[in-house]
Amino acid sequence: MKIVVIQGPNLNMLGVREQNIYGPMKLDDIHAQMQAFAGQNNVEIEFFQSNLEGEIVDRLQECLGDATGIIINPAAYTHTSIAIRDAISAIQIPTVEVHLSNIHQREEFRHTSLTAPVCAGQIVGFGPFGYHLAMLSVIQIMNEVQALQEQQQGQEAKVALQNN
Ligand code: DQA
Repeated sequence: MKIVVIQGPNLNMLGVREQNIYGPMKLDDIHAQMQAFAGQNNVEIEFFQSNLEGEIVDRLQECLGDATGIIINPAAYTHTSIAIRDAISAIQIPTVEVHLSNIHQREEFRHTSLTAPVCAGQIVGFGPFGYHLAMLSVIQIMNEVQALQEQQQGQEAKVALQNN
């Protein structure tokens, strides 16, 4: 099982930008915690941050045939990017959207997420802990998908045996 974590614009500035909203933690520190938790759960994890919409679309497409789960904070692109939404929708890999702040409590333009409707779920307002919650969610979904696949393979094997 492999999770790819995709971070959108300005999240490389965490720890510097608006600490009253996003807190003091740096992106590398958040990723270090996620890496440790992934290790404890035998999950491979990869991190990617970009300030460019097209690079995020490219990274999502690269997940095809590679990642089993995705955690994404599209940052400001959440509210504007049909391209990122279409990429998430195209690859059909369980994806959890995270926001450090509670976007629903903030300016009205942040209340809409173009990407959340094509994600398995959205976690907002818990700061860096939201990424931990997203990992729990995505691991749970990946386990359910795996169990379903194994069940289907078992049924197919049974049918094949009956037909021989
Ligand atoms: C954010 C919320 C977005 O509205 C904002 O543009 C960000 C960060 C969050 O994590 O709270 O850059 O995605």
